[in-house]
Amino acid sequence: MSKTTIAALDATEILDSRGRPTLEVFLRTSDGKEVSAQVPSGASTGQSEAHELRDGERIVKAGQAGKLRHAGKGVQQACAHVRGELAQAVLGMDVTEQGAIDHALCAADATPNKARLGANAILGISCAVARAGALVRGQALWEYLAGRRRAVLPLPMVNILSGGLHAREGMEFQDFLAIPHGAESFAQAMEWICDLHRATAAELSAGGVGLSGVADEGGWGPRLATNEAALEVLTRATERAGLRPGEDISFALDVAASHFYLEGRYHLSSEGRACDAGEFIALLTRLARRFPIVSIEDGLEQNAWTDWPALTAALGGTCQIIGDDFLTTNPLRLERAISERAANAVLVKMNQIGTLTETFTVIDRAAAAGWRAVISARSGETEDSFLADLAVASGMAQIKVGSITRSERLTKYNRLLRLEQTAVAAGTIAPWQSAPERLAPSPFAISN
Ligand code: PGA
Ligand code: ZN
Repeated sequence: MSKTTIAALDATEILDSRGRPTLEVFLRTSDGKEVSAQVPSGASTGQSEAHELRDGERIVKAGQAGKLRHAGKGVQQACAHVRGELAQAVLGMDVTEQGAIDHALCAADATPNKARLGANAILGISCAVARAGALVRGQALWEYLAGRRRAVLPLPMVNILSGGLHAREGMEFQDFLAIPHGAESFAQAMEWICDLHRATAAELSAGGVGLSGVADEGGWGPRLATNEAALEVLTRATERAGLRPGEDISFALDVAASHFYLEGRYHLSSEGRACDAGEFIALLTRLARRFPIVSIEDGLEQNAWTDWPALTAALGGTCQIIGDDFLTTNPLRLERAISERAANAVLVKMNQIGTLTETFTVIDRAAAAGWRAVISARSGETEDSFLADLAVASGMAQIKVGSITRSERLTKYNRLLRLEQTAVAAGTIAPWQSAPERLAPSPFAISN
């Protein structure tokens, strides 16, 4: 059989869910098929992430000397690299050779963090290549990506309340999330989440808390006095929705601690205090005892290597201890964290590392170490549903996409709802309940 190759690559500057420029990459195959992929973008980014190339001062507004296009956030240079150097590196390659193509893209950039040509440009090509590969093989994207991994419909970890850099209203913790692990199906899980989302609004308004729109990931971003108050609201809202906290729905935190960490201390302005790492671990432990919290992400600062093992020792028996800004989907950081027992789960964001091949390296290494992995969107998203297929293909049975308002989130959830109706019903994708080694009900039993 003759091989199908990359015949042409192009890119357009489009807008993400925050109205910031990002890329859409188009790929044409040698047999005339066209596919595309859109690239997400974070706001609360980790320092070790691969480099997102933005135009900065290089391109000014047409006809307005001195004024920057999109305040310097344009991605025209990254688009030009897709059409130029990156295309040169991979044109003519077999679209099913994902590993070789990703390697060629990294080699063309030739920096450790994809700073020269841009991780955003590289990721757009990497994802478009996977779509082309699936098309050539006549497979669904999840099926093609899964290869020999067991495809599992993921359990969602859903943002209900936002604080930190995604809402800027008072609470320092970035996400207060719900995990509907007691649901019998993905559809029921999403129905419960919708009930909880509505009940949370009712609970907030009953408490006299004003709501003006939603936060960056579609959850509520209310002004609440403390992080603990947010967990109290979540508990009451769960009950108001007729659900049992800890049995039907458990809670997760994305503390995003780096963003209120300064010079050795965690600054909780909402509570008028600052703690050192030991005190902060004690605070998280208190919260995890008082509330049905089964997952804590970025509970400590992103370079606090000596403190993470203490957090994992304190809470890792009952909670997922997830590294996001801490591990940045980076195989080297993951390896070190595994050997130092610094966490027991990794958040997987494709654009933190920049290629699909490296993303799967992290997923598979986590699985081999007995860790969990949560496949995650960014706060700046697009209408591309690629992530839903990636989550199914990962076999890791967890996804984090934000809340249930805003279509850049729903395109992923709706893809999973459709897959439950078709592929789960047909038995080609397993339901998450069949992955007990990865997802016991609350409290999570984790061997580390
Ligand atoms: P980001 O946030 O996409 O703004 O980095 C998401 C997260 O911290 O999980
Ligand atoms: Zn995070």
